[in-house]
Amino acid sequence: LTADEASLVQSSWKAVSHNEVDILAAVFAAYPDIQAKFPQFAGKDLASIKDTGAFATHATRIVSFLSEVIALSGNESNASAVNSLVSKLGDDHKARGVSAAQFGEFRTALVAYLSNHVSWGDNVAAAWNKALDNTYAIVVPRL
Ligand code: HEM
Repeated sequence: LTADEASLVQSSWKAVSHNEVDILAAVFAAYPDIQAKFPQFAGKDLASIKDTGAFATHATRIVSFLSEVIALSGNESNASAVNSLVSKLGDDHKARGVSAAQFGEFRTALVAYLSNHVSWGDNVAAAWNKALDNTYAIVVPRL
C-alpha cells in the first residue's frame, strides 16, 4: 500500500477496532459455517455466547492480529514481517480445516461491517480492497 492508502486503512480501522465482540458477532451471524468450526461455539445460539469471556477472548485475538498487520502496512521494509504473520495465519487455519471460501466469507463480512460503521468513501473502499487483496494473495494459497 502507498503511505496514503495505509493511512486510510489505519484511520478507518481505528474507528471500529474497539468493537471486537460486535465484529466477530457480525461475522458469525452472516456465516454460521464459520462459527461451526469453533469447538467452543459450534451448535450454540449466537446470542448465548456473544457475552461470554471465551467469545471476547477470541474476538480480541482476531482484531489484534488485524491491528498488528494494519500497523505494519504502508512501509515496504515491513513486507517480510507481514508475509510471515499472514503465512502463519494461513498454515494454522489450514490445520483446523478452514477453507479459502470461508476466508472469502470473512472478508465479505468484514467489509460489510466496515462499510456500515466508518465513513466509506470510494478512496477508503479502494484502500481496503487493495489491502485485503494483498493479504489474501498470501493466505489463500496456504489454505
Ligand atoms: C484461531 C477458525 C478466520 C485469526 C482460530 C481457531 C479456530 C479458528 C477454530 C482456534 C480457536 C481456539 O482454539 O480457541 C477460523 C475460521 C475462520 C477464521 C473458521 C474463517 C474465516 C480468521 C481470520 C483471522 C483469524 C480471517 C485474522 C484476521 C485467528 C487468530 C487465532 C485464531 C489470531 C488465534 C491464534 C491461533 O490459534 O492461530 N480460528 N478462523 N481467523 N484465528 Fe481464526
